[in-house]
Amino acid sequence: MCGIVGAIADRDVVPVLIEGLKRLEYRGYDSSGIAVLDGSAIRRVRRTGRVAEMESAAAAEGFSAMLGIGHTRWATHGGVTESNAHPHLSHGVALVHNGIIENHEEQRERLRALGYAFESQTDTEVIAHLIHHHLQAGIDLLEALQRAVKELTGAYALAVISQAEPQRMVVARMGCPLLVGLGEGENFVASDVSAIVSATRRVVFLEEGDTAELTRAGVRVFDAGDVPVQREERLSSVSLASLELGPYRHFMQKEIHEQPRALGDTIEAAIDAGGFPAELFGKDAQAVLAGVTGVQILACGTSYYAGLTARYWIEALANLPCSVEIASEYRYRAAYADPKHLIVTISQSGETLDTMEALKYAKSLGHRHTLSICNVPESAIPRASELVCYTRAGAEIGVASTKAFTTQLAALFQLAVVLGKLHGRVDAAQEADYLEQLRHLPGSVQHALNLEPQIVAWAERFAGKANALFLGRGLHYPIALEGALKLKEISYIHAEAYPAGELKHGPLALVDAEMPVVVIAPNDSLLEKVKSNMQEVRARGGELFVFADQDSNFSASEGVHVIRTPRHAGVLSPVVHTIPVQLLAYHTALARGTDVDKPRNLAKSVTVE
Ligand code: AGP
Repeated sequence: MCGIVGAIADRDVVPVLIEGLKRLEYRGYDSSGIAVLDGSAIRRVRRTGRVAEMESAAAAEGFSAMLGIGHTRWATHGGVTESNAHPHLSHGVALVHNGIIENHEEQRERLRALGYAFESQTDTEVIAHLIHHHLQAGIDLLEALQRAVKELTGAYALAVISQAEPQRMVVARMGCPLLVGLGEGENFVASDVSAIVSATRRVVFLEEGDTAELTRAGVRVFDAGDVPVQREERLSSVSLASLELGPYRHFMQKEIHEQPRALGDTIEAAIDAGGFPAELFGKDAQAVLAGVTGVQILACGTSYYAGLTARYWIEALANLPCSVEIASEYRYRAAYADPKHLIVTISQSGETLDTMEALKYAKSLGHRHTLSICNVPESAIPRASELVCYTRAGAEIGVASTKAFTTQLAALFQLAVVLGKLHGRVDAAQEADYLEQLRHLPGSVQHALNLEPQIVAWAERFAGKANALFLGRGLHYPIALEGALKLKEISYIHAEAYPAGELKHGPLALVDAEMPVVVIAPNDSLLEKVKSNMQEVRARGGELFVFADQDSNFSASEGVHVIRTPRHAGVLSPVVHTIPVQLLAYHTALARGTDVDKPRNLAKSVTVE
């Protein structure tokens, strides 16, 4: 969603701002803009569409400056127009904003009464005017920002410059991520480290309620009470290579192919430990996980499907009750809360607003024990959780989640084994067996990737279809859901997923010769049931595309296409079967010519409701 970058230096910062905004493009946006202090005047350029268009306009107008801020906007309040794009101005003050100001109507009325005129429909413009209003009291920009944010309710990350104070930039954070990048004689701000990683990897993550002042010489941080504080400097692990495409056509393709490495990194600690110590989830994990009597998983989208898979593992391996709920639903209902149940949030980005709010709500209901599975260190959700397990997928740029999902599955499987051990259901021999299965996982995933040429041939057939059905049973039903989500997300083909046994209770009515039906049919205890469900499809003229494994005892025939996934050890089979459905979605989208990495209407990090 929205992204922020800002810089103050002794060199032209316009290329830094533009590069930063390009690196933020993956988050999803519909307009962009920069404001710079050129001499003694603020200059601004904004465009709807791609950053490249805004970059051309800035170049045509000869933008060059040593202080500036930039923004990619994903529309919430007000349509996708140039006048709603950031930065917003108020009498020589320029500001960019991520988040949503809840009391913007009230502030707008107040500022109108004070004589301010509004040019946009955004909630953001009120902040620019509010800061300008406070500056009228003769205070400086930092103090004006500190006064203004105390009058705001909602979420914000802000970067502000003023033509009256050319030697500094001020920033604030509440509810949205913001970090400061430290350079030599230059400093930066960004909502995401990827925006500034080519300038510096030395970063300071601001905390809730913090404000900060950046000059060329240094950075001063203040807490919510405006008291100066030291925040720890860290060296970001995000590498430039992870943000570059390399030989791949799309980030999604790159990230699909990175999965053996990403899984290897995610399971490394367990392999090194020779088992599944509770400490994989934090140093206090043993006592917490041994004491819980159930698990409540909260997540959105693909992460929710990881949670659905985990339920099968947790109940089977640990014999603990496990519920999985979409975070945006949970947060608004009078949910049953047992303080002895562990709340597990799953989020690639660690900043999905619905998941964050569901976590807060769970705590408000009395839940004491919380665990976050997350791919982004220092993001909001793990910071708000008691226990954390970071997946080590590396930066995921494609909007469609791929390696984040399979690494979440690997982390959740480890959680299930740890719970199984601590609750007396997994003995040493079983633990060793699970470790062996885990050890082979990256290799099995690599074999599944080798199916790509066969899947390309299927994708060409899918490209002309308007609808698709995905079927799976048991552990593979969530993978069918994930396959359908991937396909609709990036190819815009309408796709639905059902547990195969549910077909005859409704969706069978949709099946005809035009309806491709993808079936995930490994050789597990439900295979014979799945075969019966496939007969139901064939009898109605539906065309079957079956991912069977080496032992499925299943062959192709008229209207039945089969691709054989590698033989894989039982319970981790969902991870392996994820690969072909990802590849099918990717190549179908490619054949349809969609914008694979930035599908329409979607954002990578969903930081609004
Ligand atoms: C996945 O392909 C989607 N882009 C989306 O469903 C995503 O998984 C969801 O928005 C949750 O995001 P999170 O994992 O960052 O919380």
